[in-house]
Amino acid sequence: MELTKELFTRLDPTAGVIEGKSVSARRLSDLKGLFADEAAFDQALQEGDPVIYETSGVESASGEGDLHYAAGKILPGKIGREYFMTKGHYHAWKPAAEVYIGFQGRGVMLLESEDGRQVELVPLEANSIVYVPGNTAHRTINIGDEPLTYIGIYPARAGHDYGSIAVKNFAHVVVEVDGEPRLMKREDFLKEIAINKEL
Ligand code: F6R
Ligand code: ZN
Repeated sequence: MELTKELFTRLDPTAGVIEGKSVSARRLSDLKGLFADEAAFDQALQEGDPVIYETSGVESASGEGDLHYAAGKILPGKIGREYFMTKGHYHAWKPAAEVYIGFQGRGVMLLESEDGRQVELVPLEANSIVYVPGNTAHRTINIGDEPLTYIGIYPARAGHDYGSIAVKNFAHVVVEVDGEPRLMKREDFLKEIAINKEL
């Protein structure tokens, strides 16, 4: 047993932070190119550069078999009709799976296979647990009107691959339709935006 490792931390489930750990904030400008509605993105950026989400992690153990975990808080809001969300990523070590546990708020996890053909939208809310299989792009989305807080637990060697998402993004979006979240193909949503622009 390696008792030198960090064995205990405390989570603030409302703030969505692990106490004593540094918090890193992702602002709207950090998510450039990820929201479908570019005009809405530019307008929101002009009005300020709001924090979209924050994370704080415990990533000190890095031996074979070790785990990392991180807390997240996604603020409520939308860019156009698309809800505030994380950048999303694959794991750099592709087969690495992850477990998410929700603490507060109403969220969903968008899970996609690498070719974008398989897609799942899984609820993430208080007391729910989501299993993210390996080789799966995952993005967390706040569809509610209060902060969404959660933790994710993953192999220490998982790492993050944001590059693939920056290049081709997710093939689907989660957008508000008649006050409710709806999963749509990105290309269909982009067509809707273009049509509305012409009107
Ligand atoms: C780690 C993980 C989460 C996310 C966090 C922020 O593998 O999935 O801790 O890192 O939800 O999302 P990203 O990393 O996509 O900015
Ligand atoms: Zn992950």
